[in-house]
Parts: sequence; C-alpha cells; structure tokens
Amino acid sequence: MKIFVLGSGAGGGFPQWNCNCPNCKGLRAGTIDAKARTQSSLAISDGGEDWLLVNASPDLRAQLEICPALQPGRAVRDTAIVAVLIVDAQIDHSTGLMTLREHTKRLPVYCTPSVHSDLTTGYPLLNVLEHFCGVDWHPVDAIGRKAFQIPELTGIEMHPIPLPGEAPPYSPRRHQPAEDDTIGITFIDRASGKRAFYAPGLGDWTEPVLQEAELADVVLIDGTLWKDNELADRGAAQKTGVEMGHLAQTGEGGMLDRLTPLTARKILIHINNTNPILDEASPERAKLTAAGIEVAFDGMEIDLA
Ligand code: MLT
Ligand code: MN
Ligand code: ZN
Repeated sequence: MKIFVLGSGAGGGFPQWNCNCPNCKGLRAGTIDAKARTQSSLAISDGGEDWLLVNASPDLRAQLEICPALQPGRAVRDTAIVAVLIVDAQIDHSTGLMTLREHTKRLPVYCTPSVHSDLTTGYPLLNVLEHFCGVDWHPVDAIGRKAFQIPELTGIEMHPIPLPGEAPPYSPRRHQPAEDDTIGITFIDRASGKRAFYAPGLGDWTEPVLQEAELADVVLIDGTLWKDNELADRGAAQKTGVEMGHLAQTGEGGMLDRLTPLTARKILIHINNTNPILDEASPERAKLTAAGIEVAFDGMEIDLA
C-alpha cells in the first residue's frame, strides 16, 4: 500500500493568500526555513496503478502535477483516480470535486450520510457535478464502523470511525455535529496487514481513536495547531482549536501527550499556516523531533508493504 501526501496544509494552505503571520510572511520573504504546503489531501493505492483520492482539495489541479502516477496518460482523457473518499464536508476537503468535473464517467464518491447531506444542501457540490460528470454516492457507515473496499483497490480495506469534531459553517449541524460529520479512516494493506490511521480533523481522543492509533503502523493525524489559541495569539482570527474541532499539539491531553506513547510512526498532517512547527528551525519543531513525531510535507510518500 502506497500513500502519497498531495497536500499537507490545513484550510488556506501555506502561505495563505491574505495572511501575513510570521510564518506566511517569513516564507514569502525567504527568511524562515519552511516549505510551502497545499491544502489537505492524500492519494492511496495498492499496486500503484489505481488510486483513491482521499479528500479533494481546492489545490487538486496543482497537486496532481506533483504525482505523475495519477496521470498515467493511457488515453486522450485519462486519470488514475478511481474514486474519491471525503472525511468531512469542509471546503478544503471537498472543493477539488469541481476540478474533477471533466471526468469521462460518473465519479464514485465515498462519504458519510452527514457529509453527503451538506454536499447536496449547504455546499451543494454534488448537485452541481450532476451537470458535468455526475456522482455515484457510496455511503460510508462510520457510526456502525462498517469496513468497506473500493472495487478497483481490492488490496486495501478501509475501517471508518466517527471523530469528535465540528460540522462546517454551512451545515445545519454546525455546533451540534452528528457523529459522522467528521470521520477517521484506517487503511489496511490486506497483503501485509499493515495499517495507516488517518484523522486530519480530530477534536479529541475517544476510545475508538485510541484503539485505531494503538493498532496502527503509521498515524497521520490532525496537526492543525500548536496551541489552542494560536490564531488569536498571532492576530489572525478569534476561533480556537476547540471551536474548530482541532485538538492542539500542546496543553494537557493534547496531541503530544497522546502521540508520544504510541509505537506507530507518528506524522502530523493538515498543518495550519500559523503553526510554529512549519519553521524547521523552530524550538517547537525540535520538540516534535525529540518526541519522534514527523511533520507531513507535500510529496511525502509512505510505503506500507
Ligand atoms: C477546518 O479544518 O477547520 C476547515 O477546513 C477550515 C477551512 O477550510 O476553512
Ligand atoms: Mn480542514
Ligand atoms: Zn499565515
């Protein structure tokens, strides 16, 4: 099983178009040691030929260019993307569906009923796509933790779990999220039994999260914020991590406390542009490195054979 990180940034990407926080400004000026990052997405494959797109980012078009395997060029109109899996209905995880409108067949989309509901009402991307390639929705039962497979990717089994989070601003469930507004997925390589647990939007650790993380060989987990009040602290916005459904790395019971005891390879993903860990020379980054925690970057490849 191969995982390719198409985009390791949170909503807005890094640098964000209108942001002059020390990171965004420093990256543009070349005064900090950091890499630009596009918005949150992965591609995953069993044999490297057919790929599942996991989240469709607004940056998808540019992301496909950094992963040549996704454009195999077998016909005039072609793609290696066989399906799309969406873990929440947020803009950064769904807007790339518009980029896929020229697909020559109906596009298989895997998401939960709550995500499907937001993507057909408050942010009706799936309705719009009906005027282009059209979508075949495959419901994901995260509440029932029902394992599923994509027909073209028989080497990978997917185990969804509900995650504590928030529903998007355009959802009627904004501050009373349903259990399946935000989900995590364990991808299991059926040949080797190796497991990757992916949870880019995690508000808190629950028993199922702990179980999946403990069983995993790799965790790719919410790295949005270093501190819960980081946005306010940087003068960027008033929202806290808790309000956005993102558990910060620091603080009692924060991501560092949770990840440190795990035996898995630990990788933070969905990093917000305000997060000091983006500066590779920062003391915060050194602290992660000392704890054995990596920071995902665009183009990162993980091979779980
Ligand atoms: C989030 O993860 O909280 C959202 O994606 C932020 C956004 O894209 O506006
Ligand atoms: Mn997001
Ligand atoms: Zn910024």
